Amino acid sequence: MSLIESINTEKLPNHLAIIMDGNGRWAKQKGLLRSLGHENGTKSVKKTVEACAKLGIGNLTLYAFSTENWSRPKLEVDTLMKLLVHSLKKELKTLQKNNIRLNSIGNLSKLPSPILKELDEVIEKTKNNSRMTLTLALSYGSREELLNVVKIISDKVKNNIISVEDINESIINQHLYTRNLPDVDLLIRTSGEHRISNFLLWQIAYSELFFTEVLWPDFTEENLYEAIISYQKRERRFGKTSEQIK
Ligand code: FPP
Repeated sequence: MSLIESINTEKLPNHLAIIMDGNGRWAKQKGLLRSLGHENGTKSVKKTVEACAKLGIGNLTLYAFSTENWSRPKLEVDTLMKLLVHSLKKELKTLQKNNIRLNSIGNLSKLPSPILKELDEVIEKTKNNSRMTLTLALSYGSREELLNVVKIISDKVKNNIISVEDINESIINQHLYTRNLPDVDLLIRTSGEHRISNFLLWQIAYSELFFTEVLWPDFTEENLYEAIISYQKRERRFGKTSEQIK
């Protein structure tokens, strides 16, 4: 039986998030420039996005650029930005064909204006698509996101828009970049690193984690299916006992 046949389509993660790591090491192993690692990483992005939409996953969030990535060498940052604009231009038709809505999270004001323009255009053109929401985390850092939430809510308290007693989890959720997304069910990190780094720290409270040694440019549909099958074998208790959730 092929891997895809082992997937229970009734029990898919509604929100899958991926830390796409290992582009640099993939290139190094092959004696290539890091930029070629990122370029090949975009091929895995395309395969993964299409496979998720075909399976019926409602939300896919990809960590494409972190707040910390700005401190990489300028050449690498420029390459990543160019790849992003190029991919957005090239893949608009893939998004439309697969009925995928594009969304983005992060401190977008830090992005160069050609990226923002392209991003806004693709978001606008795909806004009525309903099969899957693809969220790109760009210039995203969870600590920055949470800091921002604290500032906005403090300001609302100061201006008597809400009272301290009213602050609850739901209010915090409504002020996050991910306000329109469900909690993450499954988080995958490639390349053998067992870290969350600065990704969706609030949103992954009860997520299942899947780590694979595979470097992102080598990540295939089969690796995706493997992660989903592992997820489907787990018992998600959300702090309760096994008996309580049966
Ligand atoms: C991590 O590999 C990957 C990134 C910092 C960027 C991810 C970007 C892409 C896959 C391409 C563009 C994305 C889209 C959505 C079109 P690394 O460079 O940290 O690898 P290393 O740890 O081996 O050095």
